[in-house]
Amino acid sequence: MRREKLINILSPGRVNVIGEHTDYNMGLSITAAIDKYIFITGYKNDLGLVEVYSKYLNDSGKFFLDDIAFDKSKYWINYIKGVVNEYIQRGYKISGFNMVIDSDLPIGAGVSSSASLEVGVAKFIKELFDLNVDNKEIVNISNSAENNFVGVSCGLMDQFSVVYGKKDHVIFLNFKDLSYEYIPFNPGNDLILIINSREERNLADTEYNKRREECNDAVRLMSSMIKDRNINSLSDISLELLFEVKDRLPGKIFKRARHVVTENKRVLLAKECLLKSDIGKLGHILYESHESLKNDYEVSTDKLDYLVRELSKINGVYGARLMGAGFGGSVISIVKKEIVNEIIDKVGTGFLKTFNDNPDFIGCLPSDGTMRVSI
Ligand code: GLA
Repeated sequence: MRREKLINILSPGRVNVIGEHTDYNMGLSITAAIDKYIFITGYKNDLGLVEVYSKYLNDSGKFFLDDIAFDKSKYWINYIKGVVNEYIQRGYKISGFNMVIDSDLPIGAGVSSSASLEVGVAKFIKELFDLNVDNKEIVNISNSAENNFVGVSCGLMDQFSVVYGKKDHVIFLNFKDLSYEYIPFNPGNDLILIINSREERNLADTEYNKRREECNDAVRLMSSMIKDRNINSLSDISLELLFEVKDRLPGKIFKRARHVVTENKRVLLAKECLLKSDIGKLGHILYESHESLKNDYEVSTDKLDYLVRELSKINGVYGARLMGAGFGGSVISIVKKEIVNEIIDKVGTGFLKTFNDNPDFIGCLPSDGTMRVSI
């Protein structure tokens, strides 16, 4: 019997500490890969066929390399199809493979299970076929799979964080040129606590795309008003300049722009706090970010607001805010490890009473990015 090379990949989820809706505005974020993973294992076949079994979903799927079409009935397989399709489109020679996937990363919780899967599959294919593909291209392949095949026009934050994560560090990222810096983040007695409202992000795609359009409108309008500067994105605008043209902008457009401009400022402040290990001040900045996402960007929900408000009442919670696109999903908080049970008890019970549902609590720490492992 021929023994095929077995490739094993661990691919983390991600959190966004701060810098929301800044990636497609060429702005700033501080993110991290987290220690919750999708696990992929598999080997080549000569059948031109991709066969996948997801242990997590207890579901399987297959497709031929010469017939890759979007599958409406099995949504998850499109992430794999999308990545395979990108490799083929880029001229890489690949053959079929068999793959098993498992996960302790929750799906749909706002911790980027989709980016984790895309990047994991991209890395798996690179290793399986010994392809000369660097990390930047893995980010682009995975992001293009989501944009062009799955059909969600997300920015680069998720895929970038999953690829470039580093244990005990967060990533300070500038989307203008994709430059990045690692900042030590070893919180000792503290923890990043994600609380998943389990509110489905139904409007996420439509509203997300709308926000992107509103930001583009803001740039177009402002660059026509301000002739003496090059304004290519909202990250080229200062708060002072924005206020100078406030009265000439539609109210909604002004608010969207103000969120992005102030969020970039908050990311810079948060970076200073992290460098000084001032988690208390960082927490305040997280609360401010939530207010801005709620009032100016209008992407929060009652459940997310409830979680942030209730967390803010507990001693030992440094800060909290909605994380990701919004319209449901999760809240990120930074808390003292010793009060996690108190939070689960207080916030969990109150949430159940108010919304008749249980949120999920996920404690996590910064991890290395997607990696090949031996087992
Ligand atoms: C989603 C997208 C990201 C980013 C966030 C908002 O998670 O996938 O690219 O735009 O929303 O910060």
